[in-house]
Amino acid sequence: MQSSIFSRKFALFVFNVLFASVVFAKDEMVLDIDSAIPVAKIQPTMYGIFFEDINFAADGGLYAEMVKNRSFEFDQPLMGWTQPATDPYSSNLKSGVAHTLSYANNINKNILRVDVFDGNNYSLVNDGFRGMGVKKGNEYQLSFYAANRDLNIKGIRFHLVDSQNNVIATAQVDPNQKEWHKYTATLLANKTEEKARLKITFMGRGSIDLDMISLFPKDTWKGRPNGLRKDLVALIADLKPGFLRFPGGCIIEGRTLAQRYQWKKTLGAIEQRSTMISRWNTEFSHKLTPDYFQSFGLGFYEYFQLAEDLGAAPIPVISCGIACQFNSGELVPLSELDPYIKDALDLIEFANGSTDTPWGMVRASMGHPEKFNLKYLGVGNEQWGPQYIERFKLFQDVLKAKHPEIILISGSGPFPDGELFDFAHEELKKLGAEIIDEHYYKDINWFKQNATRYDNYDRKGPKVFAGEYAAQSVATVSPLNKNSWETALVEAAFMTGLERNADVVHMTSYAPLMAHVDAWQWAPNMIWFNNLESLPTINYQVQKLFSNNKGTDLLRVSTKGEVLTGQEGIYASAVKDSVNNFAIVKLVNTGTSERAINIAMKNRVTKSPVSITTMASDQLDKENSFANPTALLPKTETRKFAADQLSLILPKNALVIVKLPLQN
Ligand code: AHR
Repeated sequence: MQSSIFSRKFALFVFNVLFASVVFAKDEMVLDIDSAIPVAKIQPTMYGIFFEDINFAADGGLYAEMVKNRSFEFDQPLMGWTQPATDPYSSNLKSGVAHTLSYANNINKNILRVDVFDGNNYSLVNDGFRGMGVKKGNEYQLSFYAANRDLNIKGIRFHLVDSQNNVIATAQVDPNQKEWHKYTATLLANKTEEKARLKITFMGRGSIDLDMISLFPKDTWKGRPNGLRKDLVALIADLKPGFLRFPGGCIIEGRTLAQRYQWKKTLGAIEQRSTMISRWNTEFSHKLTPDYFQSFGLGFYEYFQLAEDLGAAPIPVISCGIACQFNSGELVPLSELDPYIKDALDLIEFANGSTDTPWGMVRASMGHPEKFNLKYLGVGNEQWGPQYIERFKLFQDVLKAKHPEIILISGSGPFPDGELFDFAHEELKKLGAEIIDEHYYKDINWFKQNATRYDNYDRKGPKVFAGEYAAQSVATVSPLNKNSWETALVEAAFMTGLERNADVVHMTSYAPLMAHVDAWQWAPNMIWFNNLESLPTINYQVQKLFSNNKGTDLLRVSTKGEVLTGQEGIYASAVKDSVNNFAIVKLVNTGTSERAINIAMKNRVTKSPVSITTMASDQLDKENSFANPTALLPKTETRKFAADQLSLILPKNALVIVKLPLQN
């Protein structure tokens, strides 16, 4: 019933959009577009993805592992694991105890020793990443390593239990080997549960050593073992991203140099990847996440593979020898930077080297003899000051000499203007930097006012990577920031400015990408998820509309001879899709009233239907939520159209995308 009322309302709204031009014709804002004169190429990388391991986006998010602290390597080795009754007088503790042993020479130094005094009565529980998402009828792949030295442990039962402790899946493994051995089993869930836990019960009496206790859904992205969460990858894929930047963000830098991201440690068998604390663990006192660690199960091989799956250019970013300057700011002396530069050279070899090179061989040994076709490399994230310029120059000298084909991305620091930004820009320009990464976490007005930001950029200078941006409804890093329609709308207005300057702006990405609803540090984010479901925000919808309609060539949009950049709150950009022969016009109205628009195409459109996609609402604080995921979605209508002029009413607070088929 409700939906039919909604459909009627929407039909009325579309009717107004399509036909009210008759009434408003006199006040129309005429937009002149000549589809025969493209003014620049739209880069295939124009709209991409910035994947950052923040907000549990990797472990607990995209990486589908369900067991937290599977190898007991967190700083508190039993974090995430509970022995249900830890009271010394309780029967459970008398029935057994789990503790960890440490072997300093191993990469993964800790193992779990379980001493069972009373079989059947002792159990150990893993809490997952704020629970484990389990779906009825789905299978889950369990694996673990065990050394059952005296063969006194006769069997181990694995149960998935729901939040009331009811068993919803079961498997039993009888560990029959004295030495370390990998065991596997499958659990089939008979109930859907967002916050399931894994309960492990032992039979027999004696000690057993365990490690790498892991549980994955079998239904991962492309069915891969050690795989990724399918729903999250599907949302990313729907964006049709032109690039995938990874793995951050500040995690590249680390709070200290020792905690920087080291890609070489993220390769090979997952058992050989060492766990490390996440720099977001205690970064914000208002959002502490003491259980945030990086298992690196999602490592550089998997990131490259994901980029390939998405048809996106991989853009790894590496440490430039400066730890996060908001934290320690630790510096590698210039004379000791060689190993860092070598890391960059080896990374290029890992991605593009033939299989007879040492790192190409590593790639092949992991299952990918073909090259990953790396074209871009980010050097540093948000560093600033002369220390960055000096270090970038050393990277640039070596990398450009050895790999002129790799385009280097440099950074301009954390702010989009001010002394640090100006200094970086000036110096990088002198160095002939190819692409500079700019970040803007700014307020609503900034986004409206900065649609003209690139209009006067030097056309011969470095290209722009708008690498991290999102409108902040309250303030940067405020946990109160929302993914409201107002933020998405002003981002859309700003994005017309990015697109209009596609000759200078070659890459753009919203940030951050993802957040776990129970374990985040930063808001807003493009996608929210819990252990079962994912929620594309309103901002996601706007990103998708731009990215899915990026076209191939930029067209000029003018009104009365002037480029349209926000006059009267109206923003526009237009592109041509030369492959499918469309002109695509993006219109944004942040003004105080609806506006009659006339799109005057110099090249006649055909009779084929024009499609008009609209996102509009006067409720600026509207959000899509798990309770109401469709509060605001784009709606598409088609209209028969034969002339070279299209009149429409651009509603107030709206993004409208008009797709016009062109005559050959
Ligand atoms: O996106 C959150 C953080 O914002 C990133 O890690 C960093 O690059 C920026 O400061």
